[in-house]
Amino acid sequence: MKNDLLIRAALSQPTERPPVWMMRQAGRFMKEYWEIKNKYSFLEMCKTPEIAADVTMLPIDLLGVDAAILFSDILVTAEAMGGDLSFEQGVGPRFANPVRNMQDAEKLDVDCLDRLQYVADAIKVIQQRLNGSVPLIGFAGAPFTILSYLVEGGSSKDFKLTKTLLNNQPELAHYMLQKIADVTIAYLNMQVDAGVNALQLFDSWALALSWNDYQEFSHQYNKYILSKLKRTVPVISFCKGSSVFAPLMAEANPDVVSIDWNADLLNIKKSLPEGIAVQGNLDPFVLYADKPVIKKKILDLFERMRGEDGFIFNLGHGIMPDIPFDNVKYAVELVKEFRY
Ligand code: CP3
Repeated sequence: MKNDLLIRAALSQPTERPPVWMMRQAGRFMKEYWEIKNKYSFLEMCKTPEIAADVTMLPIDLLGVDAAILFSDILVTAEAMGGDLSFEQGVGPRFANPVRNMQDAEKLDVDCLDRLQYVADAIKVIQQRLNGSVPLIGFAGAPFTILSYLVEGGSSKDFKLTKTLLNNQPELAHYMLQKIADVTIAYLNMQVDAGVNALQLFDSWALALSWNDYQEFSHQYNKYILSKLKRTVPVISFCKGSSVFAPLMAEANPDVVSIDWNADLLNIKKSLPEGIAVQGNLDPFVLYADKPVIKKKILDLFERMRGEDGFIFNLGHGIMPDIPFDNVKYAVELVKEFRY
């Protein structure tokens, strides 16, 4: 591979500068994304390997980032298990058949990998396009985050239904989480077999949980997944709330812990066991700011991390759709000019 910075950093090996990629790097902040999106629905884009490959390549060609991330969504596993998923403009994801009792949960189909074959097909097309230039990151949603969408029937501000289910019907929650975890293992291993070079597990909404509930309903399933993956590629573990949950995330044995912007990245790294790399942790809202501010905040982060192996530059969460493209490009260029 011509540029293996991400892989080396993920394995805590020395690099001449931090690698850079950004969560949601292929998306609505790019006019080239809209040129495709205006012709197809989001799920059509995900399910047509040639189109998924076109979109995956946009940030490689237009931003020059050091890694590609498969164009898909964390919710495709829930759809394959039987969730009636749609994405409505301005509303976000919706499940028309939310799962709220044992009868619903029994219907969730664990034997559903065939329905995700389009992802393996997309990975093969993307690897042909990348042609060994940069690594390709595959991903899946973590069981708690997927559960929250299935229970709420879509996005939620407060996770009221999900938390009430965890509190009142913990056995039902565990039954669902185990099913989702088993699908996630098979799905991620399928991505490894299809040729991804790294994996990221997204537990986006873990920040909704207390420390004890995180252990019971999120951590133990993520740890189980990580113990069953083909560890021939590095694994990145992400959640919002990682500033708090980082010690538990590390205990699940990923190669990299991705940190939101609330914590000091160096302090977190020093608190983790040797050999665990960190990813992060610029506040994405910095990318709305004027360029001198963007520059200062990125250089501050680099000064803090100078001399540390095992650092991947990223945002603490995804790029928002209305962040100016020019600012994103500027940030990527700054990282690429930097030298340790
Ligand atoms: O990062 C990338 O560029 C790769 C593609 C990717 C998407 N979703 C594309 C997408 C990835 C890695 C995801 C992960 C994802 N999806 C997460 C975890 C990351 C995070 O943000 O915490 C979550 C929670 C989802 C669920 C999801 N998908 C939501 C809540 C929404 C609607 C909100 C929104 O941002 O529009 C989506 C839709 C979605 N996923 C879009 C894209 C490009 C927008 C679709 C459109 O064009 O309308």
